[in-house]
Amino acid sequence: MKKIIFLLLGVILLATCKHQTTQIPIGSGNPIDNPVVTPTNDSVCFSSQILPLILANCAQTGCHNAVDRAEGLVLTSYSSIYSLARNGSLVSTITTTSASKRMPYKQPAMDTASINLIKRWIKEGSKNRTCTTNACDTANVLYSTHISPVINTYCKGCHNAGNKGGNINLDNYTDVKTQTSTGNLICAISFTGCKNMPQTGSKLSTCNIRKFIIWKNHNFPQ
Ligand code: HEC
Repeated sequence: MKKIIFLLLGVILLATCKHQTTQIPIGSGNPIDNPVVTPTNDSVCFSSQILPLILANCAQTGCHNAVDRAEGLVLTSYSSIYSLARNGSLVSTITTTSASKRMPYKQPAMDTASINLIKRWIKEGSKNRTCTTNACDTANVLYSTHISPVINTYCKGCHNAGNKGGNINLDNYTDVKTQTSTGNLICAISFTGCKNMPQTGSKLSTCNIRKFIIWKNHNFPQ
């Protein structure tokens, strides 16, 4: 009888362990919910600058996520992105002029700033750097300095003119203002009952969410 109880306990324990491992979030160890850090002379941060870009542009539904694994590739971790970065295929696929080979597949090319950031990260050795900034800069929240960098990093890959996830375009000031003024966007990034966004990766930092709320309260300064 005792043996059976131990056996049962073992099975339950094993089951819980397994459950826990599957709960580990994407890119764990690389918290991607840090405030966006604008690149200065410092080296590029994988966690807050590269991973969210790759998740939004490459790990969409039907592409290189853990479920769809297009071409057998899952691009949600440092190690997988690192391999492509080092063998040259990351830059060549996002910059090739051959429309049928260029990534993101059948979508507009990534913008020059994002491509340059990826190139710089590779040139610097493709390090797994995590950056945390303690200060949350929410003084004078403007579209140009506070809102657009967050959208470009975390959202634009899935919400642009050529790829309107949920029929929502977040390409420019007017588009973002429209989605923010309806309350839709803030609801989505705050996880308060809408579809949680970003669709891939973790929730934005409290600091980045606050920027949208302040921007809306101040009537969307540009
Ligand atoms: C990996 C792709 C992807 C990323 C990254 C992404 N979205 Fe989305 N988003 C979608 C898709 C697809 C839908 C439609 C979802 C559906 O209808 O099930 C959607 C829907 C939405 C909606 C409508 C939500 C609702 O409940 O109606 C908003 C608002 C939104 N996204 C904003 C954002 C913002 C802001 C970001 C960045 C912080 C972001 N998204 C990042 C793919 C993405």
